[in-house]
Amino acid sequence: MSTKYLYINTIGCQMNVYDSEQIERRLEPLEYKPTSSIEKADLIIANTCAIREKAEQKVFSFLGRVADLKRKKPDLILGVGGCVAQQEGSRMLQRVPYLDLVFGTHAISRLPAMIERIEAKKCRIVDVGMHEGIDESVFGIDADYTSRVTSFVTIMQGCDNFCTYCVVPFVRGREASRTPEEILNEIRGLVASGIKEVTLLGQNVNSFGKKEGLCSFPELLSLINRIDGLLRIRFTTSHPKDLSDELINSFKSPDKLCRHIHLPVQSGSDRVLKRMNRKYSRDHYLSRLDKLRKACPDIAISSDFIVGFPGETSEDFKETLGLIKTVQYDDIFAFKYSDRPNVPSAHFRDKVSEQDKKDRLIELLKLQEYYTEKSNNALVGSVEPVLVEGLSKRQSGGGRENINIQWSGRTSTNKIVNFIQSDKSRFCKEIFPGRMIDIKIEKALSHSLRGTSDLSV
Ligand code: 5AD
Ligand code: SF4
Repeated sequence: MSTKYLYINTIGCQMNVYDSEQIERRLEPLEYKPTSSIEKADLIIANTCAIREKAEQKVFSFLGRVADLKRKKPDLILGVGGCVAQQEGSRMLQRVPYLDLVFGTHAISRLPAMIERIEAKKCRIVDVGMHEGIDESVFGIDADYTSRVTSFVTIMQGCDNFCTYCVVPFVRGREASRTPEEILNEIRGLVASGIKEVTLLGQNVNSFGKKEGLCSFPELLSLINRIDGLLRIRFTTSHPKDLSDELINSFKSPDKLCRHIHLPVQSGSDRVLKRMNRKYSRDHYLSRLDKLRKACPDIAISSDFIVGFPGETSEDFKETLGLIKTVQYDDIFAFKYSDRPNVPSAHFRDKVSEQDKKDRLIELLKLQEYYTEKSNNALVGSVEPVLVEGLSKRQSGGGRENINIQWSGRTSTNKIVNFIQSDKSRFCKEIFPGRMIDIKIEKALSHSLRGTSDLSV
């Protein structure tokens, strides 16, 4: 069999990044080699996101761009996977006449067989079947598969929360957890291949294992903490309604657990939270954060916000701004509300105008900028352990001997740190991806920090 090339365009969240790795791994036995050149590809897969309309539009504009390639290379196979595939199913084949394959979020294990059938029979396939529980065969990254130092590890799938604006429970299915044994095995394999940091993924990690009667999430964290050679553990996402005291206590002596939590609040108004079906109040959220900060005073906190949810008044929005001022987040992600097919809020009638959503988003992000800078500035002068992830870029400062190598890594609190290795001969053996190194923070930029390696100070 001759080598064929696979190009994957991954749109959306970390879960899709993990799934794309699974797709690459599963297509290896069919002699598909990943490529970053779309022109070279024999198989193109768009792994898609349906969370907001904009992400969905991205999918169709990408498919539009591929049309030309398909014309030039008729044997090229084009597939769409992920959340838009799950949501749209066979409608996608009608909308995109040159599309060969639509496979949903629960169909990854059947992908190789589908590709073989398309290769042999030149047919078109749709598979958006969903199942209850976990299909363990779609997890796991081979030990020798990766050359990075950080990796995502999906620990659970789906979501049972049904926030009124959210498409995830429909396109990813009901919540289901992997067993601790499978997760630990996967992480051990990753560590053996050089991975130093894992980010555990789930829509609501706080409810890990509850349905299946497995261990609790904090217990899972302490099991992972014992893996030799692993330096750091991160996780995302936590739902504020389920953030337990036990998990908060995990941050008291975090060891490998990084001092950062992503705790999406979505809105600062109780009225809006209720209409979103978030099942917590602003006061409850704030009291959880108080407890977290008492357990771990320098924990970094980030959040997600939706502006312009149906019925959100300017008073409600002011409450959101007030919450940002009270919490002083390290970082946030904010989105304009977007109607999604079939979710309850799509039928709420009191929609906020596009202009108001836009204005509110700008105002909210501007306010947050101040707090992001404030939290970055607070680190200037300190020495932070940074896990080196790789080169950020090469800077040429004149002649060859003046080339400075810029490395990039993160603090435990998830802030990006770039630092220069100024004397090549002295430091090239001491700085390498996967090494934890003390960096003196010298400058705070709006979205990153600049520092120097303590080896040179
Ligand atoms: N419109 C806008 N933002 C949304 N999110 C989820 N659904 C929508 C929607 N319909 C945001 C939430 C969530 C993040 C992943 O995406 O803030 O936390
Ligand atoms: Fe969507 Fe809510 Fe589930 Fe998060 S918790 S994935 S916002 S339904």
